[in-house]
Amino acid sequence: MIKRIGILTSGGDAPGMNAAIRAIVLTASVSNIDVIGFHHGFNGLLESDYQRLLPQHVAHIIHQGGTILKSARCAQLHTAEGARQAATVLEELELDALIVIGGDGSFRGALAIANYYQGQIMGIPGTIDNDIDGTDFTIGFATAIDTALDTIDKIRDTAEAFERIFLIELMGRHSGYISLSAGIAAGAEQIICPEFGILQPHNIKALLAPIQRAQLMRGSSSYIIVVAENSYPAGTSALAETISEALGIECRACILGHIQRGGSPVGADRILATKLGAFAVEQLLDGAHLMMAGEVHQKPVLYPLINTGEKKKQLDPYLVRWQQNIASD
Ligand code: F6P
Repeated sequence: MIKRIGILTSGGDAPGMNAAIRAIVLTASVSNIDVIGFHHGFNGLLESDYQRLLPQHVAHIIHQGGTILKSARCAQLHTAEGARQAATVLEELELDALIVIGGDGSFRGALAIANYYQGQIMGIPGTIDNDIDGTDFTIGFATAIDTALDTIDKIRDTAEAFERIFLIELMGRHSGYISLSAGIAAGAEQIICPEFGILQPHNIKALLAPIQRAQLMRGSSSYIIVVAENSYPAGTSALAETISEALGIECRACILGHIQRGGSPVGADRILATKLGAFAVEQLLDGAHLMMAGEVHQKPVLYPLINTGEKKKQLDPYLVRWQQNIASD
C-alpha cells in the first residue's frame, strides 16, 4: 500500500522534467498519495533537503525548461556509505517508493540505494541524449533536436555566405543520437559520432575526401559537418584547424554546448513526460519495483532498471546507412 512517494531529478537536466514532476504529483493526488520532492538530485536526499509537492506547486510548470527541483550529479551516492545513508533517509521519511527522473548514471544511483532500501524504486528516462535502452525516446531529446536544428540552420546561412566549412559540435556524451538526428534533419553533409568510430589524425583523409568531391561537383559552397562531442580526441576546434590547413578552405568550429539542455519543452516532450510520469505512479501502485517507465511504439512499458545501462542504445540503422551512403558518394 503506497502512501508516500519521493521524487528527484538527477544528472543533466532535460526539457520536460517539470512536465514529468507535474504528472507524478497530479496522478498521485488522485490516489491520495503524498509526494515529496528532493532538491538537487540525490544530494537533497542525502541531506534531507526536500519539499512537499501538492497540485498547486506544479501548476503552470509544464512549459518550463530545467527542473523546479534542481538537478545535480552526486559522487557520494556511488559509495556504499552514500547509498546506505540515502536508504536511511527514505526509511526515516516513511517513503514507500522513490521515483528517479534522469539518465543511466542516475539509474545506477537508484540501483545502489535498492541494496539497502525496502521500498519500491522506479526510473523515468530524462536526458537529452536519448541513450537509454528500453525506451524509444527520453524526455528532453525532442526539444534538444529542435534547439540544435535552429542553430544549425542559422549557421548554414553564414557558412553559405562565406563558403566556409563548419563543424558543429553537439552534445551526447558517448552517444551520437542527437548528432545523427539533428544532422539528418539539418541536411548536414557529414556526421561524425562515436558509433562510427573515433576519428584519429591518421584517418582524417576519409573525412576530407567527400569535402573535396563536393567542391568538384558544386564548386565553393557551405559544408556542414555535425560532430558529436568526444568524437575527436584533440577536440572539435583542433579538428577545424586541421581541416583548414589540409584543404586551404576556412573551417570554423561551433560548440553548441548547454544551450541544447535549455528552453521550453516541445509538445512531444511534454506529452512523453506526462505519459511516463503518470504511468510510473500507476505501476508503483501495481507493485512494480526496480523498473524504468519507458515508451515503445507509443505504448508505455516497464523495462528492468538494471538493463538500462547494460546495452548501448543503437542508432537507427536505416538512417545510419543512408547518411553514410550519401556522405561517401
Ligand atoms: O547527459 C546530458 C549531457 O548534457 C551530455 O550530453 C553532456 O555530455 C553532459 O550532460 C554534460 O554534463 P555537464 O552539464 O555536467 O557538463
